[in-house]
Amino acid sequence: MTSTAFTNIQTLVTNSEELGEGALGLITGATVVVEDGTVVAVSRNTPNGVDSEVDCSEKTLLPGFVDSHTHLIFAGDRADEFAARSKGAQYTAGGIATTVNATRSASNETLRANAQRLLNEALSFGTTTIEIKSGYGLNESDERRSIDIASDFTDETTLLAAHVIPVEFREDPDAYVELIIEKIIPQSTAKWIDVFCDQGAFSIDQSRRILSAGIAQGMKPRIHANQLQRTDSIQLAVELDAISADHLSASTDEDIAALAASSVVATLLPGAEFSTQHEGKLGRKFLDAGAHVAIATDCNPGSSFTTSMPFCIAAAVSLLGFTVEEAVHAATLGGARALGRTDIGKIDIGTRADFALLSTPSYIHLAYRPGVNIVSQTYKSGTAVTQWQK
Ligand code: NIG
Ligand code: FE
Repeated sequence: MTSTAFTNIQTLVTNSEELGEGALGLITGATVVVEDGTVVAVSRNTPNGVDSEVDCSEKTLLPGFVDSHTHLIFAGDRADEFAARSKGAQYTAGGIATTVNATRSASNETLRANAQRLLNEALSFGTTTIEIKSGYGLNESDERRSIDIASDFTDETTLLAAHVIPVEFREDPDAYVELIIEKIIPQSTAKWIDVFCDQGAFSIDQSRRILSAGIAQGMKPRIHANQLQRTDSIQLAVELDAISADHLSASTDEDIAALAASSVVATLLPGAEFSTQHEGKLGRKFLDAGAHVAIATDCNPGSSFTTSMPFCIAAAVSLLGFTVEEAVHAATLGGARALGRTDIGKIDIGTRADFALLSTPSYIHLAYRPGVNIVSQTYKSGTAVTQWQK
């Protein structure tokens, strides 16, 4: 058994209202003791007899970020598409086909190396748990290998074969829906099933069939909802008891009320709002309605090419109307809820010792120093890490 004490923590964010002050459960001058990867004590005293000590004077310790929505298995980038938006072009689902071509042509090694590079970035910004979707393969073999590669990096894998209709099925989209239901889902080892239910992607009826087929195979549903255009996708998420509905930028007040009245998490993606120059910015409304809210990076080469949860916290504050406290909570405990996890997103006795250690005395600097990496060290299961491993 090895033990480590994180001592003299200027600001400890526990996310436990029983342990500390407010929704973030703040404690000043705290010590956290970790044994064999698990938190065993949170106190103001420094214990005797620990194997090692990390002095956290003038620093902030908070739960590692839980990034519950990413699309990391792809090749190439779409910088030109981003530049075109800076000149007035609109984001559409059509750009996904460019990445599908690049991904299908790439070797396993290239896809794996690209994911590893992005995950190392995420880790350097304090992310300790990540969800990874497929969705740039769009055929049996490329969806399968996307999930296989994602599984090397995380247990939180999501089948998004229903991302767009691939070019070869444009004349007969329902034949692709059948392929997903008959072949791709039955072979998949992914934990979650997702659908891009939107204009230029999948209809409500197609989405219901695909998600239901995944549920029948033991996968749990999550959904890309109301990103580009309003549909009944929130109602579908509630009907199917999805763990999370994500994006939500085109939601109406009625949609927001329906989501808030359910157990579905509202996952907002400030990086996508930023990178597609979207003007919806409804985040505050979900919070005021009392919904469970998460924020995530949505890291992908089209709508949000960032791995930085601190950037998303800053963008949630400046673009979506979150308070700093709400944004930090949504990036940690909110993300854990969006993955149905109770062992992460908090610092409390029995939780995993996944931490982000900030070089600043307060968590406020996550939003106050936008674009500056203030994460001085990331810990997974109590160990300082710089290369992402599962
Ligand atoms: O979540 N909306 C669908 N999927 C991604 C974008 C994918 C892409 O543009 O490559 C998203 O924003
Ligand atoms: Fe997405």
